[in-house]
Amino acid sequence: MNIVVLCGGLSNERDVSISSGSGVARALRERGHKAVLVDVFFGYQGQYSDPHEIFDMEQPALGGAVGEREPDLEAVRRSRSQDDDALIGKNVIEICRAADFTFLALHGEDGENGRFQALFDVYGIKYTGCGYLGSAIAMNKGLTKTLLRSGGVSVPDGIVLKKGCKPYENVGFPCVVKPCSGGSSVGTYIVSEPDEYEKYLELAFGYEDKLIVERYVRGRELTVGVMDGKAMPVIEIIPKTGFYDYKNKYQAGLTDELCPAPISAEDTERVQRLAERVNSLLMIEAYCRVDFLMDERGEIFCLEANTLPGMTPTSLIPQMAAAEGMSFGELCERIIEVSEEKYR
Ligand SMILES: Nc1ncnc2c1ncn2[C@@H]1O[C@H](COP(=O)(O)OP(=O)(O)OP(=O)(O)O)[C@@H](O)[C@H]1O
Ligand SMILES: [Mg+2]
Repeated sequence: MNIVVLCGGLSNERDVSISSGSGVARALRERGHKAVLVDVFFGYQGQYSDPHEIFDMEQPALGGAVGEREPDLEAVRRSRSQDDDALIGKNVIEICRAADFTFLALHGEDGENGRFQALFDVYGIKYTGCGYLGSAIAMNKGLTKTLLRSGGVSVPDGIVLKKGCKPYENVGFPCVVKPCSGGSSVGTYIVSEPDEYEKYLELAFGYEDKLIVERYVRGRELTVGVMDGKAMPVIEIIPKTGFYDYKNKYQAGLTDELCPAPISAEDTERVQRLAERVNSLLMIEAYCRVDFLMDERGEIFCLEANTLPGMTPTSLIPQMAAAEGMSFGELCERIIEVSEEKYR
């Protein structure tokens, strides 16, 4: 297949996405596909007379490692020499239209929130993952909470707080403050003391105008992939220090990821069925990863669903696939296969 792998973009998860995209493009090439890695923000820089030609051209070396902190997006924005402020770079639409399939290795607002999906639908570009509606719903942690609650899935008690509104006073401590549409724990704070609350609100508002303030759930962190409506093996996440923040997510060795999770068969069954229910309540297609916390009493709370989950060397879906005997390359092909369902 001729495949464009889209990565980068202008979200806080830009570097994570470049790492995901590099791995995906490499694996697809190893499996005999012609895969071209393109940064969606910078566009395709090479020369061609017909976009179909690019799949047979020599491709530049692939990038890689994720730093300890999220990238400086203003610097990224300034470094582009395009004379408009479009979020999509030069030639991207044209080369995606020439491809058999576009693999979305994008994460975060710019790529995972449904806007590119809607644009690609308009252009008849076939892409991996969920369509625009499920993407938009799942990207919004407030809407996710409402829909899951009404569908009988427990979520941590909490609210959406808009910038400029009076801070929600009725909060217990510890609580969690996080951007409504964020990812990779960027701008997420666990607030233990009431006198720190306003400081962390201000920090989190630096990332987004809408925040989630919710009850801190003490317990075990579990995550489950869903592929084509069916749950994958469960992973338990145990950071060696602190919580599962940006650094603990992407620096190898800082977090233990146990797959299959060392929980009882009943708990495994419960969390897998919940993940499938979340997948369907949020109208997600193709695949996703659903994050949970299980408290000391065994109650399971859903935090969120990720519609374009990470594909980096430390990411979780590849570990779930490995536990099912699927290599990384096979996983990439499987993602394309289940994503083709949208177009039948
Ligand atoms: N209510 C909560 N109680 C305890 N810990 C929490 C809570 N909410 C978030 N966390 C911690 O913060 C991390 C990030 O939260 P969450 O999964 O909601 O956001 P995210 O940044 O979108 O994550 P992802 O990288 O999976 O997209 C969780 O993995 C968990 O460790
Ligand atoms: Mg998460």
